[in-house]
Amino acid sequence: MCGIIGYTGKKEAEEIMLDALEVLEYRGYDSAGIAVCGPDGGVRIRKCAGRVKDLRSLCERDGVEGACGIGHTRWATHGGVSDGNAHPHKFGKVTVIHNGIIENYKSLIGKYGLEAELRSQTDSEVAAAVLSHFYSGDPYAAIRKTVLKLKGTFAFGIMFDDIPGAIFAVRNVSPIVIAKTEEGSMMASDVTVLGQYSKDYFVLPEFHVAVLRADGTELYDMSGDAVEPEWLTVSWDVNRSSKGGYPFYMEKEIMEQPEVIRETIEPRIRDDMPDLEGDGIPDSLLSDCSQICVVACGTAMHAGLVGKALMQSLVKIHMDVELASEFMYTDSLVDGKTLVIAISQSGETIDTLEALKYAKRNGAKTLAVVNVKGASIARESDYVIYTNAGPEIAVASTKAYTTQLAVLYLLAGRMAYVRGIFGEKELKEFTSELRKAPAVMQTVLDRREEIHYIARGMLNAKDVFMIGRGLDYSILLEGSLKLKEISYIHSEAYASGELKHGTIALITEDTPVVAVITQDKVQSKEFSNIKEVQSRGAEVILFMKESYRLDQDAVWDSVFKLPAMRDEFMVLPVSAALQLLAYYVSLDKGLDVDKPRNLAKVVTVE
Ligand code: G6P
Repeated sequence: MCGIIGYTGKKEAEEIMLDALEVLEYRGYDSAGIAVCGPDGGVRIRKCAGRVKDLRSLCERDGVEGACGIGHTRWATHGGVSDGNAHPHKFGKVTVIHNGIIENYKSLIGKYGLEAELRSQTDSEVAAAVLSHFYSGDPYAAIRKTVLKLKGTFAFGIMFDDIPGAIFAVRNVSPIVIAKTEEGSMMASDVTVLGQYSKDYFVLPEFHVAVLRADGTELYDMSGDAVEPEWLTVSWDVNRSSKGGYPFYMEKEIMEQPEVIRETIEPRIRDDMPDLEGDGIPDSLLSDCSQICVVACGTAMHAGLVGKALMQSLVKIHMDVELASEFMYTDSLVDGKTLVIAISQSGETIDTLEALKYAKRNGAKTLAVVNVKGASIARESDYVIYTNAGPEIAVASTKAYTTQLAVLYLLAGRMAYVRGIFGEKELKEFTSELRKAPAVMQTVLDRREEIHYIARGMLNAKDVFMIGRGLDYSILLEGSLKLKEISYIHSEAYASGELKHGTIALITEDTPVVAVITQDKVQSKEFSNIKEVQSRGAEVILFMKESYRLDQDAVWDSVFKLPAMRDEFMVLPVSAALQLLAYYVSLDKGLDVDKPRNLAKVVTVE
């Protein structure tokens, strides 16, 4: 979860690291710190609880000079939020930043008699102490011996007092990418931050040691043999990592959706039909499976739920959507005829990664839908389709979600075709409708002030319910998550028909209800369910297809009419509308939209 950065080169490290940590802050933001190796060889640390801006102020008052350093932004696991628990941690001649969890830290404290010497409550300082214990001038030997003693996940950036100018990196599961820049070398927990310095990077293989110096990086395996890195190229437009004039990344990322959805679907359409050959996906992968299972977390799991509704109605195939964190413990019935689809923006969510590995061990074919090139989940899968959303910085996922949906549409269309459910004509019509989605979404985005107005009515709500049926219910699960994560309003999505079986007891005149109606076959039933909550005094905020007629007898508090598409594509304009609703509630409550409390964007702990 934590963000890590390392720089060694010709420039001052402090400024580069502070800038980088600001970008990486979405990985955790309860404390931050840097360690810089000065011209005299000494390592100086500045760290504090709080945001990177607090660290910057600290450095402005009392900066650290030097062209080699490591930095960290923390999401606390072991040890509370305090200056002392912030990284880097120094022990003897060793300075460490760490992302991950050292599960056996307690037994290591006992084994090496560290109790009296530790100054923090973190597992990370224990790792620094074990490294120091093994260090007697040979960094590779110390790192090798240490990692053999550790249980858990880790990505380390390490500096040794007596090896100035060098940063060592080693990892297990938690990611590290390494780049060469024009005047130095850099490492980071993800590639988003490296794009502005370099286009060339490689993913540090697990249990390999990299040493970064101003003149380049060397890579060694655990036997000490040199290994040639597998260099990759950053394909993202660097400008996409900036706010581009918007007050928050979230708004910018919402507004980018028509463009990035186009970039996700257009290269995968040939002769007006989805074609996944360019991604190396053989049609046999889609035709030979007898069931599909999505493993994912959070918003990505919600994309899977929309995928399930699509696949089952279009392709007539059984599909499960499993919370990745539960998948391994529920005796899931995956086998050699199951296609397991792992959906993940970051490609690093550890629960999803572990679920994927479990599926592979059980013989399933695996396909990753990932946004970050070269991420662990992409590398672990048999096949991968990249969403072309570009860097997503706001913790609340928006464009990553809708590009995941775009990929699921492509997959569903192609699958229906190769399984003989769609002929060429049906597939072309389906594809043509999908291609219209970005423009339709744009019309919703252009009317965002209408949604801003509606959002004002929700600012004082304590509880909100969101109701809909079928695909509308699937999309509301995501809309509700968006609202609660950034506005801190308790919100629950309910299948409209289920509400009367208990939950309707909670509906009062103080409980706004957001209702979505876009599916023709359940339209009349849905209007009846809305009447049930209106009769109990609830204010209803309605998002409905523009072609539906409103019952004039009912009292309508707020209505947003959505441009019509074929029913199965309505989730895309609805997504944009619900994202904007959550965004404006959070904005008008004066909250930190991009960095909601307690959350982190990349979750690399189980
Ligand atoms: C975190 C983020 C969510 C995200 C989830 C899964 O909880 O805050 O926005 O949906 O992780 O992340 P992934 O990178 O696997 O899509």
